Amino acid sequence: MAAPPLVYVLNGPNLNLLGMREPEIYGSDTLDDIAGRLEDKAKALGLAIDMRQSNHEGHLIDWLHEAQAKEAKAVLLNAGALTHTSLALYDAVRAIRTPVIEVHLSNPAAREGFRHHSYVGMVAKGVIAGFGALGYELALDAAARL
Ligand code: DQA
Repeated sequence: MAAPPLVYVLNGPNLNLLGMREPEIYGSDTLDDIAGRLEDKAKALGLAIDMRQSNHEGHLIDWLHEAQAKEAKAVLLNAGALTHTSLALYDAVRAIRTPVIEVHLSNPAAREGFRHHSYVGMVAKGVIAGFGALGYELALDAAARL
């Protein structure tokens, strides 16, 4: 039987601290909690996920390249603060054909001015923000329909 289509779920700086990091903004779920629910949802949708986190920009770039090399169906990308600063991530998303869905737990547009610009959003297929951990599941639903 053919392997199920693969969706990369990439998480950037400080998201390893989810659950204890500013829970009033980001919620009390850990990244492992989110991964567990996404695994279940992926199975139900006939997909597989590969979920990773790094505090290092270069890892995220390498993984975006890898997603294309592995012919992933899509990438869900929560690049954390790199969303707002990283031209290198902008270039990486542009450089691959794999569709990238930008995900944020919070709604950056409703927060400090420096979060209003998104380099990732300029080149992403779409953006899901402001729904907390549920956003990852909504993004996976969207990926399934691409
Ligand atoms: C975030 C929003 C970013 O502005 C912030 O730097 C993060 C988390 C979110 O998921 O809401 O690290 O990406």
